[in-house]
Amino acid sequence: MQRLYCGKINKDYLNKEVTLFGWIHSRRDHGGVIFIDLRDKEGIVQIVFQPDNKELFSKAEKLKNEYVIKVKGMVRFRPKGTENPKLYSGEVEVLCSELEVLNTSKVLPFEISEYKDISEELRLKYRYLDIRRKEMFNNLKLRSELLNVIRNFFVSEGFLEIETPVLTKSTPEGARDFLVPSRLSVGSFYALPQSPQLFKQILMIAGIDKYFQIVRCFRDEDLRSDRQPEFTQIDYEMSFVSEEEVISITEKLISKIFEYVFGEPLQLPIKRISYNEAISKYGTDRPDLRYGLEIINVSEIFKNTEFKVFSNVIKNNGEINVIVVPQGEKFSRQQISDYIEFIKSCGGEGLAWMKFLNNEFESNIVKFFSKEELNLLAKKLNLNNNEILFFSAGEHKKSCQLLGILRQKLAEDFDLIDNKKYKFVWIVDFPLFEFSEEESRIVSVHHPFTAPKQEDIKFLEDEPLKVRSKAYDIVLNGIELGGGSIRIHNYELQQKIFKILKLSDEDINNRFGFFIEALQYGAPPHGGIALGFDRLLAILTDSKSIRDVIAFPKTQKGVCLLTGAPSNVERKQLDELNIKIKV
Ligand code: AMO
Repeated sequence: MQRLYCGKINKDYLNKEVTLFGWIHSRRDHGGVIFIDLRDKEGIVQIVFQPDNKELFSKAEKLKNEYVIKVKGMVRFRPKGTENPKLYSGEVEVLCSELEVLNTSKVLPFEISEYKDISEELRLKYRYLDIRRKEMFNNLKLRSELLNVIRNFFVSEGFLEIETPVLTKSTPEGARDFLVPSRLSVGSFYALPQSPQLFKQILMIAGIDKYFQIVRCFRDEDLRSDRQPEFTQIDYEMSFVSEEEVISITEKLISKIFEYVFGEPLQLPIKRISYNEAISKYGTDRPDLRYGLEIINVSEIFKNTEFKVFSNVIKNNGEINVIVVPQGEKFSRQQISDYIEFIKSCGGEGLAWMKFLNNEFESNIVKFFSKEELNLLAKKLNLNNNEILFFSAGEHKKSCQLLGILRQKLAEDFDLIDNKKYKFVWIVDFPLFEFSEEESRIVSVHHPFTAPKQEDIKFLEDEPLKVRSKAYDIVLNGIELGGGSIRIHNYELQQKIFKILKLSDEDINNRFGFFIEALQYGAPPHGGIALGFDRLLAILTDSKSIRDVIAFPKTQKGVCLLTGAPSNVERKQLDELNIKIKV
């Protein structure tokens, strides 16, 4: 027989006897009658205990929150005026005739019956109680439903779901690996996959043609609100495809997800901008397009200015960039200096500023500029009254990045972000490489298997930083949702890229020998992408952190507060692995 759920009881069950199981959400005693809100995964129903059944009533008097009970009773209308329109079952109640207590509960560390914003430590330690709360439960429910939507989508598009190993060899995605010592091969380690990148490419070489997997990935990196050490990717790869085809299938998938969640598909196609445009206009390759405050380059106007701070920067091939912020009259001197300090704390040297009030510029630096420069500036920026301008002078990327950070902070501080908006954008035409100051060498912007643009291959040897790649990132509301590329399927080209990355033959062999070997057996052209499933869910559920869409996440320090992992292991286990702890 199908079980009945509390949250599903309504007037269809009037005058029927029902048996229900659930947790006591709350108990109220009213004039000799006891009311229980009984809760299960579907919702709440009111159970009534009347004093005429003495034995049952005294049993009900002992019930406490979160006890687990089984009740039998008749469904009836609630008395007029006592209906609860907020509940699906709100028109009816169950008059209890039998009660069985299946389990009791200790006093709760936090209330479940009414939502309180309690500390995350407490929530994570008692995650099973946190998940009993509607908000967390709904997030996990949506997660489960979307897994289904995504699987159905890929299957209907002819993809095969193939699992790849968790105990494997390192794949370079830019983070540190989690290592697992091998007992059978003493001194050797598996790495947990940062992504299934090489396996999915090998599956293309194996002729699978269209692969997908909803897969756990592991990266040992500094954690933030949108990063976890283990997270889930929607990972897919296709053979014989161009960038267009990967982009188009991704848009179709995301549109399906939006249709499921919001009832209407996404407006397609999603806007695309080049990496260079993203940096120049927003100072980042993951711009939030829910608000304006775009960066504008005004170097041309100040080429010969008396204001040495600007003209010197331009002479040294730098730029003067600016953002224009409305309601400039509201910025006090103190606020302005706070923003300048903020930019300094982000590695900048400072900011110049000017207010434009009643058609006049106002600032400590206005005196350095000619009338003509100021007129040109007002014209170029199309200034309106009561705006404030923040300038950053310096090397192109750094100056834009600093204004990008300021842009975001101002949008947050002045409430310019519409949380109901979903603004997607593709970032394309990435550089293939960038120079890493930290490592003093050239590194891949994505990963080393990303194909260069055909027309830029000629720059590989002499001007590698000029080479653009066939990579694409998808960004939603300022969060990098996914990234992918068309891959290198040619052995010689792949070797060349490894050499540019200064990997020795030995390194290449040790780390990717198996893959390089596979590339030589008729590797088809192929490409793909991976989307961060947790990040997508966090945005769709308007959660502050991806921890709110993961059943058992780790803290910023990588600790599972529920289980206490990571924890010490027994000496015997270490001995078996031939491992000695140094400290
Ligand atoms: P990438 O490294 O860009 O690409 O990862 C793809 C997406 O995974 C999500 N993501 C994370 N989510 C939560 N916590 C993390 N620590 C974390 N790290 C990444 C992001 C990111 O955009 N193999 C390539 C894909 C490909 O080329 O096909 C890859 O893994 O949303």
